[in-house]
Amino acid sequence: MTIEWLKKTAALAALSYIQPEQLLGIGTGSTVNYFIEALATCRIPIKGVVSSSQASTRQLQALGIPILDSNRVTMLDSYIDGADEVDPHKQLIKGGGAALTGEKIIAAMARHFICIVDHGKQVSRLGQFPVPVEVIPMAREYVTRELIKLGGHPVYRRGVVTDYGHLIVDVHRLMIRDPCTLEQQINGIAGVVTVGLFAHRGADTVLVGTPDGVQIIV
Ligand code: 5RP
Repeated sequence: MTIEWLKKTAALAALSYIQPEQLLGIGTGSTVNYFIEALATCRIPIKGVVSSSQASTRQLQALGIPILDSNRVTMLDSYIDGADEVDPHKQLIKGGGAALTGEKIIAAMARHFICIVDHGKQVSRLGQFPVPVEVIPMAREYVTRELIKLGGHPVYRRGVVTDYGHLIVDVHRLMIRDPCTLEQQINGIAGVVTVGLFAHRGADTVLVGTPDGVQIIV
């Protein structure tokens, strides 16, 4: 059983949470791509989706799924997205695909956040995966120095510019004892657009693709 297969089983399991006429938020990444494909073929008549990135928008458009402007929507029924790490409290590290800002906005707008992952993403404590931070270009070096003060080893993700024209700094070896406090601290650094810690607003349901089937964590 491959990792791709496990991602696909988690993505397909998310379909059972979707009702006709719902408004959905759609994340970014290889796991969500499987969900988008499944959504296009299942024919559940949803109202439309708000997309978290240009990459997902392209895939959604190609499959004829109606896309809505986030500014014309007050609330989303469900948000479906992957993650880079998931802890037992359903707190997450996200942003491996550099779409963290759109993802955070959608997570905040959604009533129900369904996170779909393969079992390799489960950790007992967040922080093995470097924490992505989206940064205004002018502030890159300042933010880097502040992240070092927090005990991290920030590495600029060369060649990556986000959908909003910002940069990504990946923070390695952060000791994440209290994800909520750290999320707040990093978001408070001048020049930070957002941090890929999803602790204040973690997932509501995690669907984990495992070799023994899909595990549901609520
Ligand atoms: C993109 C993300 C993705 O959800 C995360 O990187 C997981 O991606 P994949 O499903 O490809 O493993 O946060 O910014």
